[in-house]
Amino acid sequence: MASDVRLDRVTKTYGDFHAVDDVSLHIQAGEFMSVLGSSGAGKSTVLKMVGGFELPDTGTITIGEQDVTFAPPYRRDVNTVFQSYALFPHMTVAENVAYGPRQDRVSRAERTTQVRDALDMVQLLHLANRKPDQLSGGQQQRVALARALVKRPSVLLLDEPLGALDRKLRQQMQVELKLLQHRLELTFMFVTHDQEEALAMSDRIAVMRNGRIEQIGSPVELYDEPRTAYVAGFIGSQNFIGGTIDTTNPEQLIADSGAVLAASRVAQGAATAVRAVAAVRPENVRLSHEKPTDGSNTIAGRIVTVVMLGDSLEYVLVTDQGQEYLARVPRFGDRLPETGEKVWMHWPRERTSLFSAEGLEQQEPRFAQDQGAQNSRAAG
Ligand SMILES: Nc1ncnc2c1ncn2[C@@H]1O[C@H](COP(=O)(O)OP(=O)(O)O)[C@@H](O)[C@H]1O
Ligand SMILES: [Mg+2]
Repeated sequence: MASDVRLDRVTKTYGDFHAVDDVSLHIQAGEFMSVLGSSGAGKSTVLKMVGGFELPDTGTITIGEQDVTFAPPYRRDVNTVFQSYALFPHMTVAENVAYGPRQDRVSRAERTTQVRDALDMVQLLHLANRKPDQLSGGQQQRVALARALVKRPSVLLLDEPLGALDRKLRQQMQVELKLLQHRLELTFMFVTHDQEEALAMSDRIAVMRNGRIEQIGSPVELYDEPRTAYVAGFIGSQNFIGGTIDTTNPEQLIADSGAVLAASRVAQGAATAVRAVAAVRPENVRLSHEKPTDGSNTIAGRIVTVVMLGDSLEYVLVTDQGQEYLARVPRFGDRLPETGEKVWMHWPRERTSLFSAEGLEQQEPRFAQDQGAQNSRAAG
């Protein structure tokens, strides 16, 4: 059965560097929790402390009813799947999975049953006698998963387990993992730097930055109600327009270009910030040839590139001041503008949020990392 996992004010330093800084996190039994953050954020260190491969300096970790803060890995009801899953090349799939139980001196008969069950869970029974080099990358990853599941832990820790797989296979495995988690009713703690992956799989996501948890929430909460500019930009893609908060109206930003932008959401800390940003997602931006007169937020720009995304087009625009912004518009509708044209970007106040600009320097400055944005720049 699944257990809950609780980290309470956990800190880990290396020398005087705070790799994990006062992290508290409660994962419910049976929950799929992702820990999301860029490289160096402290994700793996958190996971290693739950697994028992690192010990915290301060704080406590409990799994179910048990305080495991200083317990060795084999005393914890968890198992870990790492990105580099190093199967034994000279052993068959079944022997790889049997390795752990054999070390634990599980009887041969019992072992056979355990291995069969574990291989069945990941749908690899039919390949039990193959060697790892006779398997695809995805199949090898499933063997690694079976190896972690064979002891029937109540919590599974996964550290970027799909990182080595290509995009298509990764998406398949995301679905499989999610189904498996449901079927086995296990608690999953899943580390990734890939926001799409976290959005697709998680019940909740903990976003980490600089060793701290910046926000915890469901995918929808993080997408719709990010508390900081960092989270707003890290989850999905985002246009950030820099400026200062209007001293006479805290729901307005005076952009560096002089444009006045109205918002319906003002994040905590924005009103008193020295530098602030207005944020609008590309899918909420529309383009028109005439300047809209309905009071929506507007910025003029020239189209540099158009990228076909299937049901929508992604436009990269540049303003007279040289800022780049993205607009993602449905393909079917009015006459769509083309590369080189001068247009008005516009979007409603209700789709605009204001944040303190703090934390944005760690991201790609104009818009957050996003597959579409990366593609569009590569294509442009
Ligand atoms: N054993 C170690 N000794 C010194 N620094 C470490 C050690 N392990 C991790 N770090 C540092 O701690 C920070 C967080 O690392 P890590 O948890 O691996 O980040 P992530 O998994 O989010 O990429 C990084 O800056 C890393 O260099
Ligand atoms: Mg890591």
